[in-house]
Amino acid sequence: MLTYDGDMRVLSGIQPSGTIHLGNYLGAIRTWVREQHEDAFYCVVDLHSLTLPIEPAALRQNTVECAASLLAAGIDPDKCTFFLQSEVQYHPRLSWLLECVATMGELNRMTQYKEKAEKSLGKVGLFTYPVLQAADILLYDTTHVPVGDDQRQHIELARNIAERFNFNYGDTFVVPEGTFPAAGARVMDLQQPERKMSKSVSSPLGTVSLLDSPEDVIKKVKKAVTDTDAEVRYDRKAKPGVSNLLDILAGLHESTPSAEAEKYSRYGDLKAATGDAINDVFGPIQQRYATYMADPAEVLRIMSRGAERASTIAEATYRRAATAVGLVG
Ligand code: TYM
Repeated sequence: MLTYDGDMRVLSGIQPSGTIHLGNYLGAIRTWVREQHEDAFYCVVDLHSLTLPIEPAALRQNTVECAASLLAAGIDPDKCTFFLQSEVQYHPRLSWLLECVATMGELNRMTQYKEKAEKSLGKVGLFTYPVLQAADILLYDTTHVPVGDDQRQHIELARNIAERFNFNYGDTFVVPEGTFPAAGARVMDLQQPERKMSKSVSSPLGTVSLLDSPEDVIKKVKKAVTDTDAEVRYDRKAKPGVSNLLDILAGLHESTPSAEAEKYSRYGDLKAATGDAINDVFGPIQQRYATYMADPAEVLRIMSRGAERASTIAEATYRRAATAVGLVG
């Protein structure tokens, strides 16, 4: 089996399809910021955002805002490689090679496709979306992919495609694995705690955005759906709303939901602490965000510089794969 010759190669991405929310932060971005080193690659996956209807102007704006949010959250382009997916031409090129390895059957089993299919108006891109994601990952000889829980199936697919490609054409790709945070891997909607917090579903009261004012954060958390038995206890099944708040607190404090549960006996106190903990983390990010947004051209330049470095590595892997399948160009 092919292995990466360094210690650990990390890649992950986020779609610029709406404002970053607490789920994105706890499930992924917080880990990215912690794990920054010269072998870490983080990208804004704008090509993926084309799979659902989006106005060109909105995509442009979202791309800058998403990148500025990541920089404000602490992604440091001097420590890691931070880039825009569409600026590295090898992503769609490798995706095509992988589409000729992936099967209809395995893509049909992707639950995210099933959930979003209606909105995509039957576009093929949504169906092949996970193959492009596999290309993002495999291009960098990635060993670890830090993501939230909803990406498990996509990572499994990337592994399967890599293994099949290696079997058919000889060792070409490193087989990656997903890494998931202990707390905050699946942040649920505050109003419907049986559904995950999501950029693509409109639930203004249920979604805490990175850019929400402190007052709005407090209000949303205060209104979060709980239950009537008034006991602060971590039990995802029986008490999804309360458990979600405990999970959020544990994520923000890097502790565990049960340890958080012991600190509170009343829902009101738990909610107040959760709102404050979110504001403590988001407040400084919002200040830095305003600075980045004052110069959007610089934000784009930062990603272009990252794309140059990413391209060098991506090209080598792409060439290896292209040669393996018999392309001579
Ligand atoms: P996206 O843009 O939907 O989400 C970005 C990251 O946020 C995580 N996330 C959550 N974590 C916890 N709770 C939630 N409610 C929640 N919602 C989202 C996601 O798991 C993800 O880590 N397909 C990917 C983007 C992608 C990608 C990649 C990821 C494209 N290529 C290569 C990793 C590697 C997506 O749509 O994420």
